[in-house]
Amino acid sequence: MAKGDEVALAVQVLREGGLVALPTETVYGLAADATNELAVRRIFAAKGRPQTHPLIVHLPGKEALTRFAAHVPERAVRLAEAFWPGPLTLVLKKSALVSDAVTGGQDTVALRVPAHPLAQAVLRELGGGLAAPSANRFGHVSPTTAQHVIEDLGDEVDYVLDGGRCEVGVESTIVDLSGEHPALLRPGGLPVEEIERVLGEKLVAPASAVRAPGLLPSHYAPRAGLVLVERDAEGKQLSETAARLAAQGRRVAVLAPGNVQVALPVNGRSFMLPEDPAGFARELYATLREIDAAGCDVIVAAPPEGAGLGVAVRDRLRRAAAPRT
Ligand code: TXA
Ligand code: MG
Repeated sequence: MAKGDEVALAVQVLREGGLVALPTETVYGLAADATNELAVRRIFAAKGRPQTHPLIVHLPGKEALTRFAAHVPERAVRLAEAFWPGPLTLVLKKSALVSDAVTGGQDTVALRVPAHPLAQAVLRELGGGLAAPSANRFGHVSPTTAQHVIEDLGDEVDYVLDGGRCEVGVESTIVDLSGEHPALLRPGGLPVEEIERVLGEKLVAPASAVRAPGLLPSHYAPRAGLVLVERDAEGKQLSETAARLAAQGRRVAVLAPGNVQVALPVNGRSFMLPEDPAGFARELYATLREIDAAGCDVIVAAPPEGAGLGVAVRDRLRRAAAPRT
């Protein structure tokens, strides 16, 4: 099928209240028409996600902000102009168009304009907003290919638009602009430094416990357990931790930037990622899935250093390493 026909079909499914998995530049989303409450509720059922966890509404362009937000502060205009379409989500006071099903009963809504051409085409042809969380089962790692979506959600999705591998590979950066000071709710695909440069001020930590599943300690987890180690030039900590776990009979996967030296234990597998943080981010989730598929039961990981995407990668690895409940 030509891409144009696929987009038309996706839009038709969405207009009928169906669920469409679609590529964004960050990760694949599981989308429903944001103004169709029944369709939005199906998203929660499909993912096994608690109803109180709010969804991001994806918009065709920044001009749609005024329909979905009750008030568009000046900071939002500046960030939207600088970074949309792109991997930035803004939390603003919601308009009456946004239902409690989308926001989990909160008076704010998370909004973003995705950059992937297929997501853009669907949004423009639909002419509205799409509520879409990442297209994975609740708590699992986000999908970065159409195949990942099918493995995770299969029959729960009415249509999957295949847009290849996601360019960014980790979720969007979320900034809350609904309070007095701009707050960072989740580091992600857009470096915090770039946001602070445009705003001319630092982002603060979130004021209170907002209901954000991406902020749960044990979110973004592969099946295998994950042990995070400090990175040293000789890979000493990686090698020693891997050897200790292998001696306990565990099947060990080592995950590190490619320039790190590591001595693998017997039966250990190494999964080396690009050294630059952006490259590491792009391949991270697909690699975590590969490790699960290879039957490893524990991952010893050394995160990449540095600012930019390195912050998001370290955040996701820390959460994957947190105790599971
Ligand atoms: O890159 C992304 O952001 C991807 C793609 C598909 O756009 N989406 C994504 O959605 O990661 P999800 O549902 O997996 O994560 C959305 C995050 C959650 O942590 C949620 O709690 C937070 O956004 N969020 C949504 N609405 C919010 C609100 N009103 N206030 C605070 N946080 C909110
Ligand atoms: Mg998610």
